Amino acid sequence: MSRHGRVRRAARCVRRGAAVALLLVAAGAAVACQGEVPASEAPPADASAAASAAPPERYGFGRPASAARVAALDLDVNPVGTGLPPGRGTAAEGAVTYAQKCAACHGARGEGLAPYPRLVGRTPRDDFAFGTDAKLVKTVGNYWSHATTLYDYVRRAMPLTAPGSLTPDEVYGLVAHLLAENGIVARDAVMDARTLPAVRMPARDRFVPDERRGGRDFR
Ligand code: HEC
Repeated sequence: MSRHGRVRRAARCVRRGAAVALLLVAAGAAVACQGEVPASEAPPADASAAASAAPPERYGFGRPASAARVAALDLDVNPVGTGLPPGRGTAAEGAVTYAQKCAACHGARGEGLAPYPRLVGRTPRDDFAFGTDAKLVKTVGNYWSHATTLYDYVRRAMPLTAPGSLTPDEVYGLVAHLLAENGIVARDAVMDARTLPAVRMPARDRFVPDERRGGRDFR
C-alpha cells in the first residue's frame, strides 16, 4: 500500500475512534483498523483444520520463573510505601553516591546538564503554576506527589547506564540527598521504610487518587 493510501486509511480508522491506528502510523507499520484483516493477510479457507489442532505442550524456549528471578523483578514501591526494602540512608551518604553516579548527567546540585533532567528546584510558594507558565521546569521538589515514588524510580531506572545496580542503602541515601537538596527533609534525616512514606511532598495535594471505575465515570 502506498504511504498516501496508508494515511488515508488511517484517517478512516481514526474517524471510527481507533486511536491505536494513529500509533501504528507513527511507527511506520502497516495500518489495519481494529478487527479488520487486510485481504492479503486473511487466513486461507482451509486453515480451520490446522487451527483446531491442539497447541504443542512446549515451544522449546524460555526458562522457568524461579522465585529468585521473580523477586529480582518484583521491585515496585507504591505511594504508601508497600514494597520498600529493609535498609537506610542519610543525605550525607547519598551525596557521595550522587557525586559518583548521578552528577555527570544531573549536575553537581541537581540542576540538570542538558539534555538530562533537573532534579532540584522549588517554585515560589510552591504555587504549581505549570498550566500558566510554560517555562517552569518540573522537578522532584516541585512536582512529585510522593517521596516513595523517588525510591521506586531511582531503584528501577537509575543510573541510566546501569539500572538496578544500586543497593537499598544507596537508594535510601540518594533519596535522602535529593529530598534534602529540595529543602523537603533535614540533611541529617534518616530515610528508611518507616520514615520515607511519612515525608510530605510540596505537591502532595495537587493530585487526586484515581478511583475511576471506567465507563463514563470521569473527574
Ligand atoms: C547517563 C546519564 C544519567 C545518569 C548517570 C543518571 N541519570 Fe537520572 N536521568 C537520566 C535521564 C535521561 C532521565 C530521564 C529519563 C526519562 O524521562 O525516561 C533521568 C531521570 C531521572 C529522574 C526523574 C526526573 C523526573 O523528574 O522525571 C531521577 C529522579 C533521576 N534520574 C535520578 C538519578 C539518580 C539518583 C542517579 C544516580 C544514581 C541518576 N539519575 C543518574 C540520565 C541519567
